[in-house]
Amino acid sequence: MSMLTNAGRAALMACAAALCGHAAMAAAPEGSARAALGRTATPAEVKAWDIDVRPDFQGLPRGSGTVSRGQAVWDGKCASCHGDFGESNEVFSPIVGGTTAEDIKRGRVASLTGNQPYRTTLMKVSTVSTLWDYIHRAMPWNAPRSLSADDVYAVTAYLLNLGDIVPADFTLSDRNIAEVQQKMPNRNGMTLQHGLWPGRGQADTHNTACMKDCTATATVKVVSTMPAYARDAHGELAAQQRTVGPTRGWAAGASAPAAPAGVTAQVPGAQLASQYQCMACHATDRKLVGPSFAEVARKYKGQDAQDALARKIRAGGQGAWGSMPMPPQAQIPDSDLRTVVGWILEAK
Ligand code: HEC
Ligand code: HEC
Repeated sequence: MSMLTNAGRAALMACAAALCGHAAMAAAPEGSARAALGRTATPAEVKAWDIDVRPDFQGLPRGSGTVSRGQAVWDGKCASCHGDFGESNEVFSPIVGGTTAEDIKRGRVASLTGNQPYRTTLMKVSTVSTLWDYIHRAMPWNAPRSLSADDVYAVTAYLLNLGDIVPADFTLSDRNIAEVQQKMPNRNGMTLQHGLWPGRGQADTHNTACMKDCTATATVKVVSTMPAYARDAHGELAAQQRTVGPTRGWAAGASAPAAPAGVTAQVPGAQLASQYQCMACHATDRKLVGPSFAEVARKYKGQDAQDALARKIRAGGQGAWGSMPMPPQAQIPDSDLRTVVGWILEAK
């Protein structure tokens, strides 16, 4: 399966999701001349994308803004979602709160490990560059990148003032932001000493990328486990969870989780259908972009539909279930396709 095929399929799927015309679907190239698409980005385009501000402040544009200017920016462009003083937890987690003068001295926020019921941005963030960068690239949510650099300095200064990190008459600028970093309440909070497993004392996701002689054929098995003491800590999880949808809880004392309804990941057909991304448009038990596989099984019950369906999937097509077309599924080998179709025809 080539990357190009994947990219092409992604484009087709985006197309299906956006309900664009069938003509566009039919006219999409099949493996031809895609390498000729596009052009080299111009320096101006690269510059427009290259906006990250790093912890050493590389990438930070020049500029400055006062706390009081920041309050005007906040009230006009931020408060509607984040609350008047950055404390609202209605839309997303609050930005300000939970830090103390002692934290600013220590560089580690005590309430992170205490009884504070929620975590605010100022409690968590270790680098002021991240705060600046995030506001600059992503906020206001409804108009990202609409703020001038000076307004980003100003509104960052305002938030820092709400957290008592800088005084009310402060002007934040590219020249003094490094000093402000030395007052961030959680500046010493970045650590790898927080493994999920007690006593491990290290992050859980250490890995070294294979750079040479990597086995392309290795099958990756994604598993998720939880230590028994954690699993049963709150009683019968299965009984506490929703009984609808694909996710089921774990029965206390059970050696394996109950098989989720409709998703039997151990069945090869189901596994292949996920692997070949059929499940982006299909589910076994309900209609998505395409018909549910249970419906398909009902429709062809008692008929010898195996070969016709395999051909249809391979070639794509429309009309059997409505006007929405299925793009050709060229990437799936014949033997796997046979397995998947067999599985579909058994779906309930
Ligand atoms: C239309 C609603 C809306 C507006 C207006 C808005 N925000 Fe946000 N803000 C959000 C949402 C939603 C998130 C969380 C986004 C996410 O997690 O992807 C967020 C996240 C943030 C965060 C990161 C919080 C964290 O800890 O991850 C900061 C900082 C922030 N906003 C600052 C601002 C500033 C400054 C402005 C005004 C210039 C602003 N926001 C305007 C909705 C808004
Ligand atoms: C981009 C969305 C999309 C993807 C990806 C997709 N399908 Fe479909 N599929 C559809 C649509 C839409 C239909 C209905 C077509 C029609 O009405 O004839 C359909 C129909 C079907 C049918 C019924 C065909 C018939 O004539 O009754 C089967 C079986 C099927 N798909 C299997 C698969 C398999 C297997 C895969 C993965 C290899 C797959 N689909 C990937 C959208 C998709």
